[in-house]
Amino acid sequence: MDALEALMTTRAMRRFTTDDVSDEMVATCLRAAQQAPSGGNVQALQYVVVRAPEVKAAVAAAYLAAWDRYERVLGAPPSFRTPDDEASWRRTKAASDHLAHHLDDVPIIVLFLLPVIPWTPSDDEGPIDIGPLYASAYPAVQNFCVAARALGLGTTVTTVIRCETEAVRDAVGFPEGWEIVALVPVGRPSGRFGLARRKPVEALTHWDRWGQKRR
Ligand SMILES: Cc1cc2nc3c(=O)[nH]c(=O)nc-3n(C[C@H](O)[C@H](O)[C@H](O)COP(=O)(O)O)c2cc1C
Repeated sequence: MDALEALMTTRAMRRFTTDDVSDEMVATCLRAAQQAPSGGNVQALQYVVVRAPEVKAAVAAAYLAAWDRYERVLGAPPSFRTPDDEASWRRTKAASDHLAHHLDDVPIIVLFLLPVIPWTPSDDEGPIDIGPLYASAYPAVQNFCVAARALGLGTTVTTVIRCETEAVRDAVGFPEGWEIVALVPVGRPSGRFGLARRKPVEALTHWDRWGQKRR
């Protein structure tokens, strides 16, 4: 598949068939993740591929607890710009809820783990903001998702699980000093890939100076 087509049609897929995903396919996506850039080429990420039913069940239970907690405080926006925006918000919420209640059935869950390491250097003037370590994680997560798309697999970047980190640590046994930066379900999507709704990029792009737009 053409790289641009894979990029443009990678979107959150939260409903999956029960078709299996081979270890080789997962390995291909992980190789793509590992090729992503990282600050100073630190390559700090590690990955946990969860396939075993009992481990998956424990991770899925933690995810559901995290989602339930988040959903209780996730009110609808006070207003929507258009009926389409409202419909889209409701679809996303329903799909997120579906994922939370069916994560157990997804063939593969991949955890992206980052060590908690000192990252901000200092000099005589104080800390030097060179960007957060997290910035070195998400290019890999997205590479993984785009590679999966190219193989016909659906994924969603999720982070709500962070509020249940300890339950996941227990389930998969990752050590203290590591944190979850993403949990990505992987499966054959039951829906179709396509171009997701987005704000028009022209309206958000400034040329040379803030406020100078080209339409
Ligand atoms: C940093 C990040 C965190 C996210 N966390 C969650 C999550 O916890 N649960 C979930 O269902 N979706 C999560 N998403 C998916 C977004 O809701 C989704 O990418 C967005 O609604 C756009 O979806 P679309 O590409 O299908 O239009 C997350 C996405 C990102 C980039």
